[in-house]
Amino acid sequence: MTDTPSFFLLAEVHRWLDSLFLDHQLALLSLDLPAASACLKHYERNLKLHIEDEEDALIPLYEARTENVPGGAVELFTGEHTKLTGFIAEFHGTLATLNGKPERELKHDIIKLFDREAICKGLVEHHHAREQNILFPWLDTVTSGEERTALLAGCASVKAWREPV
Ligand SMILES: [Fe+2]
Ligand SMILES: [Fe+2]
Repeated sequence: MTDTPSFFLLAEVHRWLDSLFLDHQLALLSLDLPAASACLKHYERNLKLHIEDEEDALIPLYEARTENVPGGAVELFTGEHTKLTGFIAEFHGTLATLNGKPERELKHDIIKLFDREAICKGLVEHHHAREQNILFPWLDTVTSGEERTALLAGCASVKAWREPV
């Protein structure tokens, strides 16, 4: 590795996003529904920033400068983003049904929610691997150091990771 900036910096953002989702699951494990909901909103806000960084700047550049990358069609990246945001909306909906339930029923429903969230986490893992194996190395290949510096400086999710509120 050189000192040249690399889009692999975004793998750190991926790890940070995973840790925010874990905060939500830890709150669920403690049956703390307000915290679970707040943490999910925080995760969702930052995931949205990250998806916007990718869809508004990085993926269009990748699309313009690459051709027929195996496993790297733009629709695969954006389709996974749509599925992920759909999962988060579903989890908010499920959380909204849990208030006021007796403890045994609540725990049962939380286990069911964890099962759904496990599917989402599998998709996230797959998506991050696709980006880290295809999108980021290709972007590193087709951009100059100056472009990488400027693009990464413009990523709202990198700023949010570095300066969490
Ligand atoms: Fe993504
Ligand atoms: Fe990403």
